[in-house]
Amino acid sequence: MCGIFAYLNYLTPKSRHEVLELLLNGLKRLEYRGYDSTGVAIDSPQTSDIVMVKRCGKVKVLEDAINEHFSGKEYDEPVLTHVGIAHTRWATHGVPCETNSHPQRSDDENSFVVVHNGIVTNYKDVKTFLEKRGYVFESDTDTEVIAKLVHHLWKKHPGYSFRELVEQVIQQLEGAFAIAIKSKHFPGECVASRRGSPLLVGIKTKTRLSTDHIPILYGKDEKSPQTCEKDTEAAKAKVLPRTESTSEFMPLEEKEVEYFFASDASAVIEHTNRVIYLEDDDVAAVRDGTLSIHRLKKCLDDPHAREITTLKMEIQQIMKGNYDYFMLKEIFEQPESVVNTMRGRVRFDSKSVVLGGIKEFIPEIKRCRRLMLIGCGTSYHSAVATRQLLEELTELPVMVELASDFLDRNTPIFRDDVCFFISQSGETADSLMALRYCKQRGALIVGITNTVGSSICRESHCGVHINAGPEIGVASTKAYTSQFISLVMFALVMSEDRLSLQQRRLEIIQALYELPERIRQVLKLDSQVQELAKDLFQHKSLLIMGRGYNFATCLEGALKVKELTYMHSEGIMAGELKHGPLALIDDRMPVMMIVLRDPVYIKCINALQQVTSRKGCPIIICEEGDEETKSYSSRSLEIPRTVDCLQGILTVIPMQLLSYHIAVLRGCDVDCPRNLAKSVTVE
Ligand code: AGP
Repeated sequence: MCGIFAYLNYLTPKSRHEVLELLLNGLKRLEYRGYDSTGVAIDSPQTSDIVMVKRCGKVKVLEDAINEHFSGKEYDEPVLTHVGIAHTRWATHGVPCETNSHPQRSDDENSFVVVHNGIVTNYKDVKTFLEKRGYVFESDTDTEVIAKLVHHLWKKHPGYSFRELVEQVIQQLEGAFAIAIKSKHFPGECVASRRGSPLLVGIKTKTRLSTDHIPILYGKDEKSPQTCEKDTEAAKAKVLPRTESTSEFMPLEEKEVEYFFASDASAVIEHTNRVIYLEDDDVAAVRDGTLSIHRLKKCLDDPHAREITTLKMEIQQIMKGNYDYFMLKEIFEQPESVVNTMRGRVRFDSKSVVLGGIKEFIPEIKRCRRLMLIGCGTSYHSAVATRQLLEELTELPVMVELASDFLDRNTPIFRDDVCFFISQSGETADSLMALRYCKQRGALIVGITNTVGSSICRESHCGVHINAGPEIGVASTKAYTSQFISLVMFALVMSEDRLSLQQRRLEIIQALYELPERIRQVLKLDSQVQELAKDLFQHKSLLIMGRGYNFATCLEGALKVKELTYMHSEGIMAGELKHGPLALIDDRMPVMMIVLRDPVYIKCINALQQVTSRKGCPIIICEEGDEETKSYSSRSLEIPRTVDCLQGILTVIPMQLLSYHIAVLRGCDVDCPRNLAKSVTVE
């Protein structure tokens, strides 16, 4: 979804052209999140004014507009200290257009400009309040109220600092947000805050940082945002007493320093690996090159400081390398990414598995009433894929839930439930809401995420980092196979002391050992898959059928086809064929069927015969050398043999490749499919 990137250089000379280049690069790194319009704001070289350029469409369009707009020599002159803010917008309130793009402004003079990620749910009340005070709104966005509310408070309380103004504003906002604000009245300062949407601060200094944490400065005022009146119009005008720092610590002061505010780490990693992940209701302010983090209220268990984290991410991980698309790179990275998921956890010599992040919780998990696996989209499919094995090896009831539906149903949750939240980004709003719902009811929360420092990661009691490396393509590929393996490893940990399951465990551990090589073999099918894509790309629909361990591949394959190619596609449980879907079959309907030599083989062959006897011509995914199964069709893909419960990892790869090739043939934007976002931070 929307991406925020802001840059502040203090005593570090940079020309405005350099600043703009930095901002554009930051936005390019955030493109993968999904967006439909863009914008930047910097200081004018001639006056003390802020100039903004906004465009509908891609960052490239903005770049062209910037080159045209900021062409003078004055843009090459170095400036010691400067603040620039930039944004990619994924429309929620108001169509994608220049006026609705961010930065949004307070007034005609661009006194305060803001970039925002999330949704301000009470924006209508705030807007009415501000309109009554003479403010005229120009956009349809919820964001504009933020800029105008800061302006209103600034006029009312001229002595307030920029940070204090923003603190007052966020107390009046409901919903989710991450914001970065710049003002012509506070040159060289930037204030940022978050609630429910991710935001981090990157810090770059010439010398080693003088500290590894930033103290949190708590306000004396004990009124939390929850306790201040919000509903009445009068309350909107009410300003809480000013806050005063009570901390004996000093904030971060560096002589020459650059700060980066960004929605995620991929936008800052090329500049610095030192970041602070902000928490909900933190207000981070930079003034005179000094970063301070404030909170209005201190709760009992609140920490004294925010840690400066060193990112392990490498710059190459967020570059395309020799690949045309991130998605293709990520598909081909799977032989390595699965190894990274298992590294240090699966001990192939002693045939044991240790998951450090949940080790201490295993006795508690073994005593639980049931396991609940909760996620959205691809992450949900990884739960479907591993449910059967989890049931087998844990001997516990396993429920698999879509986070949105789980919340809609107000699903009963008990203290002795263990709830797994599976999320590549760790920021998916539905999953996060479901997590909080379960946590409130006393369940143990286990996070399975790919993003260190993400909200799900931080709010879980324990968890497993899938370590797949950054996934940039909107379509999830390597994260799926790594989530799959993480859950398999969990099942192995749970069954460690079950004598009757030892043979099965050994068989799975051996298959995990062989998995990277098996994946490499499947990837060699790429050119065959490309040929199949040529047969399929002009069709309107594709049905994908299978059952047992491969049903999840059908769902995941269909999701990939839909999101990348905009074709209709449906994953069908082969056992359900005669309950309806068989009516779709004729000689023109494209069908893929997964038929592997596992306990449901005979049932799959039945389904295959039902399809062929209605003149269906399925493309079959079968095991290498299985001539009998191949004989049912003229088109097939042969994958290497592995243990039944890991087949889904090998069968999903041809589906990933197929959706990719169809998307290319149909001229679709592979890495950023229309209307979609990488991390869905709104409900
Ligand atoms: C998959 O290709 C999609 N991008 C989507 O279904 C995704 O898996 C879903 O939005 C959940 O995201 P998460 O794993 O980051 O929570």
